[in-house]
Amino acid sequence: MSEQGSSQGKTYPPDPELSKTANVRPEMKDQDLEEFWDSQAKERISWFEPYDTVLDWQLPYAKWFVGGKLNACYNAVDRHVENGQGDKVALHVVPDDGPDSADAHDITFAQLQEQVVRFANGLKKLGVGKGVPVGIYMQMIPEAVVAMLACARLGAPHTVVFGGFSGKAVAERCNDLECKVLITQDEALRGGKTAAQKTNADEGLDGAGSTTVEKIVVVKRTGGDIPMNDRDVYLDDLVDGESSDAESCPCEPMESEDLLFLLYTSGSTGKPKGVVHTTGGYLTGVATTHNLVFDVKDDSVYWCAADIGWITGHSYITYGPLVNGVTSVLYEGVPGYPNKEVWWKIVEKYNVSILYTSPTAIRSHMKWGEQHAQAHDLSSIKILGSVGEPINPEVWEWYRKHVGGDKAPIMDTWWQTETGHILITPLPGITTMKPGSAQQPFPGVRPEIRDDEGNVLGVEQTGNLVLTAPWPGMMRGLYKDDQRFRDTYWSKYSDAYFAGDGAKYDEDGDIMLMGRLDDVVNVSGHRLSTFEIESALVEHGDVAEAAVAARKDPDTGQAIVAFVSLTGDKTGTEELEQALREQVAQSIGKLARPATVIFANDLPKTRSGKIMRRLLKNLAEGEELGDTSTLVDPSVVDEMKKQIQG
Ligand code: PRX
Repeated sequence: MSEQGSSQGKTYPPDPELSKTANVRPEMKDQDLEEFWDSQAKERISWFEPYDTVLDWQLPYAKWFVGGKLNACYNAVDRHVENGQGDKVALHVVPDDGPDSADAHDITFAQLQEQVVRFANGLKKLGVGKGVPVGIYMQMIPEAVVAMLACARLGAPHTVVFGGFSGKAVAERCNDLECKVLITQDEALRGGKTAAQKTNADEGLDGAGSTTVEKIVVVKRTGGDIPMNDRDVYLDDLVDGESSDAESCPCEPMESEDLLFLLYTSGSTGKPKGVVHTTGGYLTGVATTHNLVFDVKDDSVYWCAADIGWITGHSYITYGPLVNGVTSVLYEGVPGYPNKEVWWKIVEKYNVSILYTSPTAIRSHMKWGEQHAQAHDLSSIKILGSVGEPINPEVWEWYRKHVGGDKAPIMDTWWQTETGHILITPLPGITTMKPGSAQQPFPGVRPEIRDDEGNVLGVEQTGNLVLTAPWPGMMRGLYKDDQRFRDTYWSKYSDAYFAGDGAKYDEDGDIMLMGRLDDVVNVSGHRLSTFEIESALVEHGDVAEAAVAARKDPDTGQAIVAFVSLTGDKTGTEELEQALREQVAQSIGKLARPATVIFANDLPKTRSGKIMRRLLKNLAEGEELGDTSTLVDPSVVDEMKKQIQG
């Protein structure tokens, strides 16, 4: 495949061979959107009862495949066993110490079914059933996938809390959804280090005052000595003697619009948003995009290196690939442990043909050098994917050259927790690729770029990305907060979904994403609210006020800069800086720790008492400050500037 020059830089036309064999067909783009999604829902999903209405759209709430009944676990597991695929590997399980570990093993679809059935039978004993919510707070171990599927089998909505979040975050989320049961593991094991998991959960739940959680199911991962009390039960004990026979626990028939899961994500205020995802539309959306964007075939080996705690893990580790009956790698570890080659060993050992990861992970590999990738046979790779943040063109080029053998197309997929599945992406065999751009709407997706007044913008004009038509996996609101749902996504424009991202069309008609428009920062592809971090900082007794901004970072995309004023005559010391970082880690999780803390007597405020956030952003980025004349005390800014430059 040759590369061509354009005014935008290099572009890469599709490989003609791939164009011939790709699952996605160019004419899908021209199909009526209801027709398109209807045909996908029929082709990819098994319905216990057929739906009678494809789409019932009453803005801002969509209902898809109304009247249909189905079960997510049946689609992800049982039907493959019934179709003679029971011996096919569902998961190549790679533990923390890598693919050479004695603990590396495979789980076939038949074995997955047995594990899910036993787990579900165990949960039933705890009162879990249709409509009874369950929290999951785990690392990347197979039991996390099994737990999600066991809930889905019973019709119990799950909410997965990222395993690196604090116990406080677990308690907040479980209490909001009124989870009756929490599933966790004794300890986390990542990068060769153990970390508290169950104890974190305990501290969070006990510190929350009251909790709805009545039982904690604990998966033994390390076998570490952890406190267990009356509320707790080890999974092994819970499922001891339980049947693994599918008939002992049939898949609950669910309405298409029944809740499958809630996933909490960060917004502009401190309170995380409970994003609602339902069953029929979500499964259709994830299965269709997974199949067409990654061009999966019967013999594909697919590896999504995200975490189950994020939407990427839900849609493209658990539901999408399993519904499509694809063999996946499930990796517990982190890049760089036990050595810098472990990722490439995994690709080589399992003949991974599709790799889906984040720009942050690729940047780490790039920093360590291509020799690690070159030491392994990566010729099995056919398609690469990127998600979570914009990918820098030079990182894209590196990924293609050193991982993709100078030929694998890269799917730079734009989407959100709220959208449920990929919406903007190149397509294999169709799109002429352009490094650093998600480029084109997926079939059936209708984006526009508008200015603040609602005018549709043309080429090279940056504006707000909106979606003017519904899609099957779209959020069905924010849990118990209709007003916030309408205010956040549907009030800027009365007729379109406001994504919160800036974007523009380039002269070839490709969409370039320009970053968030709200107070959301994106560190290593992890979405965090500045307000949430500020709230964590002011929990420290020495902090009077805090404001958080982000600066560009070569490794993590964005890095957090905290501006802090102190109480009384306290002064900013290195110890205090450490203590504040720790405070944020305790309250939210390590990934939210500020990279830089700037101490000041006061924060830059206007005369009306408003913190000038634009200024803090400029300060964090080391940019020109522009007009500071409206500040009460401009000297505050000089002091901050000195610290940043110092
Ligand atoms: O700003 C966009 C960025 O990540 C945000 C969504 O974050 P989250 O809900 O955590 O979901 C991440 C995984 C889908 C978006 O609003 N984002 C995601 N993918 C891209 C991206 N920005 C640029 N290019 C992408 N491919």
